[in-house]
Amino acid sequence: MTASRPKVFVNCAISLDGRLAYAGGRRAMLSGPEDLRRVQRLRAASSAILVGAGTVLADDPSLRVHWDLLSEPPGPGPVRIILDSMGRTPEGSRVLDGSQPTLIAVSERCERRFPATAEMLVAGRERVELDRLWSLLAGRGLRSVLVEGGGNVIASVLRSGSFDRVTVYVAPVVIGGRTAPSLALGPETPDQASAVPLRFERAEPLGAGVVLTYGPVHGSVEPGP
Ligand SMILES: NC(=O)c1ccc[n+]([C@@H]2O[C@H](COP(=O)([O-])OP(=O)(O)OC[C@H]3O[C@@H](n4cnc5c(N)ncnc54)[C@H](OP(=O)(O)O)[C@@H]3O)[C@@H](O)[C@H]2O)c1
Repeated sequence: MTASRPKVFVNCAISLDGRLAYAGGRRAMLSGPEDLRRVQRLRAASSAILVGAGTVLADDPSLRVHWDLLSEPPGPGPVRIILDSMGRTPEGSRVLDGSQPTLIAVSERCERRFPATAEMLVAGRERVELDRLWSLLAGRGLRSVLVEGGGNVIASVLRSGSFDRVTVYVAPVVIGGRTAPSLALGPETPDQASAVPLRFERAEPLGAGVVLTYGPVHGSVEPGP
């Protein structure tokens, strides 16, 4: 852990054509059983799991460790963190069920108040700012954050350059179409200078798919004009 931020790991599952979900963002179960276990190991080893409000609205994930898929005894489990500038996380979402400590990272503009099952963390003026969030989390002693999605949050994290590793499970399936979201959404990339370079580390077969691991190359990359 550096002084200003926890370790930041990005992990997700995609189709061969780089899609995170089906048309219009409908949840896709892309991980096979072996990858589900790998993800549970990653979650169990992390201080926090982070997704954006878009993923909560689309998938209503529990963001818990499924200890039954692991051989180790249940531990405390990671904190759940939602990037939700305006407080759009619906009442009744699984992340608000009180089963795990949960932080909703909001902006100063957010007027929503959440139930006691979640704590609000103001981490930006207009929108959640990653640098501010990371330093707040580091101040709370969180050592590692697993960023699981969706495409807008992953794009922000990759563009910021503040990450330590990206792992992607590539499922042996093609989704295609115009509206299935890809691994990175966010601003358009008009040229090579505004694309985010990564450093390839390894490719490992896993079940019916393959896990690709990348590291960062250098600092932040602004989208093009
Ligand atoms: N295959 C996988 O592994 C996987 C994993 C997770 C999700 N998914 C899929 O991903 C899709 C959802 O992706 P998504 O892009 O719509 O949602 P998302 O990335 O989960 O959330 C995006 C929202 O996060 C909020 N946010 C706050 N601060 C942000 C920041 N600094 N940078 C970026 N976003 C910030 C924004 O809303 P505010 O401006 O209101 O704050 C933004 O609209 C779903 O289809 C889901 O099924 C797939």
